[in-house]
Amino acid sequence: MCGIVGIVGKAPVAERLVDALRRLEYRGYDSAGVATIHDGVMERRRAEGKLFNLEKKLSVERLPGEIGIAHTRWATHGVPNETNAHPHFVEGVAVVHNGIIENFSELRDELLAEGAVFQSQTDTEVVAHLLARYTREGLDHRAAMLAMLNRVSGAYALVVMFADDPQTILCARFGPPLAIGHGKDEMFLGSDAIALAPFTNRITYLVDGDCAVMTARGVSITDYAGKPVSRPMQISQSAALMVDKGNHRHFMEKEIYEQPEIISHALSHYVDFAGGTVKTQGAAIDFAKVRSLAVSACGTAYLAGLIGKYWFERYARLPVEIDVASEFRYREMPLSSDQAALFISQSGETADTLASLRYCKEAGLAIGAIVNVRESTIAREADAVFPILAGPEIGVASTKAFTCQLAVLASLAIQAGRARGTLSEADEKALVRHLIEMPRVMSRVLNLVQPQMESLSRDLSRFKDVLYLGRGTSYPLALEGALKLKEISYIHAEGYAAGELKHGPIALIDENMPVIVIAPHDRFFEKTVSNMQEVAARGGKIIFITDEKGAAASKLPTMATIVLPVVDEVISPMIFALPIQLLAYHTAVFMGTDVDQPRNLAKSVTVE
Ligand code: F6R
Repeated sequence: MCGIVGIVGKAPVAERLVDALRRLEYRGYDSAGVATIHDGVMERRRAEGKLFNLEKKLSVERLPGEIGIAHTRWATHGVPNETNAHPHFVEGVAVVHNGIIENFSELRDELLAEGAVFQSQTDTEVVAHLLARYTREGLDHRAAMLAMLNRVSGAYALVVMFADDPQTILCARFGPPLAIGHGKDEMFLGSDAIALAPFTNRITYLVDGDCAVMTARGVSITDYAGKPVSRPMQISQSAALMVDKGNHRHFMEKEIYEQPEIISHALSHYVDFAGGTVKTQGAAIDFAKVRSLAVSACGTAYLAGLIGKYWFERYARLPVEIDVASEFRYREMPLSSDQAALFISQSGETADTLASLRYCKEAGLAIGAIVNVRESTIAREADAVFPILAGPEIGVASTKAFTCQLAVLASLAIQAGRARGTLSEADEKALVRHLIEMPRVMSRVLNLVQPQMESLSRDLSRFKDVLYLGRGTSYPLALEGALKLKEISYIHAEGYAAGELKHGPIALIDENMPVIVIAPHDRFFEKTVSNMQEVAARGGKIIFITDEKGAAASKLPTMATIVLPVVDEVISPMIFALPIQLLAYHTAVFMGTDVDQPRNLAKSVTVE
C-alpha cells in the first residue's frame, strides 16, 4: 500500500518527511517522492525504487521549506517509474494519494475534453486537475477540495498542498487511514501513527468522509458538505511498537477496518485498474490445460477455498476437488499430473496444508500457494506463489487474510475463465469492474453496519447456541460466520447449507436458537427465504443479513435485519464477510473474552 506523510511547521521538513516514510516502508512500495514549498515556489523530487534513491537525489538537489508532503507509491494505475511517482503537480497544486479513484477514466475524459494535459498514467492526476480547475473557477482552497471530493468516487486517502498557500495542508479520507499528529507549533499527518512516532504521540484519526485543513496551529475537520465535525485526540503507543492498534481496541478490530485499504493493495497485484482486466499470474499453472484443481487448506483458509471452488467452476468451468488439509493428506486421493493443486494458508506454515502440498508435489502436480507470508515454507515449496498482500495479521481470528484470499481466488478464477475461453473479454471487464468497486463498498458497509452489529451482539451474547445458514457462496460464508463466532466468543455455533436444514438441524430450532441467515438477493434468494419460513414457523429467531432488494422482498418477522447495498455475486462474499466479522468481534468484546488471543488457539499451527 502507498504511504503518506505531511508536515507543516517551523523547521525544514524534507529530511524528516523521508524519515517518516521509512517508518512506512513495511507497507511495500516501488517509488517515492517529496514536495515542499519555499519562498513561494513548490518543488518536488521523485525517484523510482527504494527510499535510498530519493535520498540520493535530495542530497544533490536539496529541498528547503517548512511545509511538505511525501509519498511511497505501490503502483496501481501505471508502471512504477518516476513520472507516475507522487506528488503529482498541476498548476500549483500538489497531490499525494493512497487508494483507488474508481471513476478516474470518466473524469479524465471530461478533463481532456476541456484541454487538460496529463503527465502520468495515474488515477491520482485527475484529482490534481480537478483542484486546479475549481481554483481557476474562483473557489478557495477548502471549497475546491470539497468540490473535488464530491466528484471522485473510490476508496482513498488524499493529501494536497497549494503553492500559493505555504501554511496549509488539506487532506481527506474515505477508506485508507489518515492520522493527524499534534506537535508544538507544528502539525503532522501520516498513514499511521507509527510514521509520526518520532514527532508526536498526540494523534487524531480521521474517519471516512472527513476533510481536514491543517496549519501549524492546528486542524479543522469537516464533512464533505463543509459541516464541522469533531474527532478526539488520543495518546498513541506506537513509539514502542512496530505494529500498532491505531485507534482500535484490538488488533482484530483494526484488521477488520483496514480491509478496504488492504483489499485495494492486494487487488493492485492481480488487476489492471486502468485496463479493467486481470493481470496473468503464476506461469507454472496453465489454467487452459489443467483437467481439474485440487484445493486444500485449514480453517478459515479452507472456507476461502470453498468459495473459490464456486468461482472456478462457474467462471472457468474448471472442476475443483477441495478438502480440509488434515483429511486431504490421508485420504489417498488419486491424482495425476494433468491436475494442478492450490494450497491456501495465511501463515504458510500450517503442518497439514504443507503435508498435502508435498503429497501433490510427489504426484507431479503443478503447485500454487496462496499465502500471506511470502518467505514461508509453503510459499518456498510451491511452483507459483500468489501473495495475498494482507500485511501482518496479529489477531488470531483471521479477518483481512480471509477477504484477501477471496480477492486473489476471484482474480485467479477470472484469469482461468479467460484462459479456458469460458469468459469473454466483456465478461472479464464486467467482473473486474466489480472487484474495483470493492474497497469503496467495504468502507461504506463497515460504517453502515457497525452500530447495529454492536447492539445486536448484546442480544446474541445471551444465547448458548447459534445456527448460521446460507446457499451458494453464502454457504461457506455461513461456515465462516459460525467459526468466527465460536472461536472468539465461545458461543457454540454451527454453519449449514440452507438446503440441509430439513435434513437434521431443523430439530434444534426453538426460541433459544437464533438462526443467522446470509441471503443476498441472488439466484438462491427465494429458496433461502423458504428455509427461513421453516425457521419462523417453528418459533426460531431470525437474524437476516441481506441486501436492499432482499430486505424489500422478504416480509418475514426477524429479530434483526442487516441491510447491505446490492452488489454483484462476485464480490458479495467479501462484502457479506464484514457483518459476520463485526458480529463475532462485538459479541466477544461484550462477553469480555480475550479477542486477539482466544483460549487454546494459535496463529500458526505447525503441528498436526
Ligand atoms: C480462524 C483461523 C484459522 C486459520 C487456520 C489456517 O479464524 O484463523 O482457522 O485459518 O488455522 O491457518 P493458515 O491460514 O495460517 O494456514
